[in-house]
Amino acid sequence: MERYRINAFVARAMGISRRKADVLLKKRTRDFCINGRLFDGNLGLKVTGDDVVEFQGRRLRLPSPVYVILNKPRGYVSSMSDPHADRLVIDLLPQRLRRLKPVGRLDKETRGLLLFTDNSRIIHQLLHPKKAVEKEYLVTVHGRLTPLELDPVVNGMDMDDYRSLPAWARIERVSIEESVVRLIMIEGKKHQIRDMFAKIGHPVKDLVRIGFGPLRLGRLKEGSWRYLTDAEIKRLSRIAPVMR
Ligand code: URA
Repeated sequence: MERYRINAFVARAMGISRRKADVLLKKRTRDFCINGRLFDGNLGLKVTGDDVVEFQGRRLRLPSPVYVILNKPRGYVSSMSDPHADRLVIDLLPQRLRRLKPVGRLDKETRGLLLFTDNSRIIHQLLHPKKAVEKEYLVTVHGRLTPLELDPVVNGMDMDDYRSLPAWARIERVSIEESVVRLIMIEGKKHQIRDMFAKIGHPVKDLVRIGFGPLRLGRLKEGSWRYLTDAEIKRLSRIAPVMR
């Protein structure tokens, strides 16, 4: 269970900033009760959602976690802050959602499904290799790709400092100029898809993530975001327990 510093807990539960929560905890120390005892003013205290934190006799509860998916356009950086990036994915979310964190990253030039949440426990679980969450991509590569050339991607191949795991792949379309591959893999190493296709002699032209575990990008417009539905949250919780 996630542990919060008391000021972070109060801030989230009361919808105020941490600074305001600090002031409140200092000025109105005796208005707070933790598990039935008057708060002693220790601002280093950590609590979980199971602890009973009360303010003036009313229990403070953490709001439910928020989950949104974004259809990331090309040219946006997936980190939360980067002094060298002119465009961050978080800029595509409204101000009130800019505290959410992306579940993993997509390269600056990659498009498609990026999940955001404030549930850091689920982020950790969804990214853990043991969970083997499948990521589905449409990969457009330069040149006419043959099934034989695709074999190393499917069977696993030696990269510079690791061997890639087997993946599922199917050639969807080919022409002289380009080929489109549907690819499902559980690994997500930095630039992995770009590096693998470069290595088999067909550099990536365009990369779109269309699926992440049970989630689908669907018809969400590029640059747009939406909340997950209850059904999607339920499906996610089959992979990792979801706090409500
Ligand atoms: N693999 C890549 O090479 N890039 C991405 O953005 C995602 C997977």
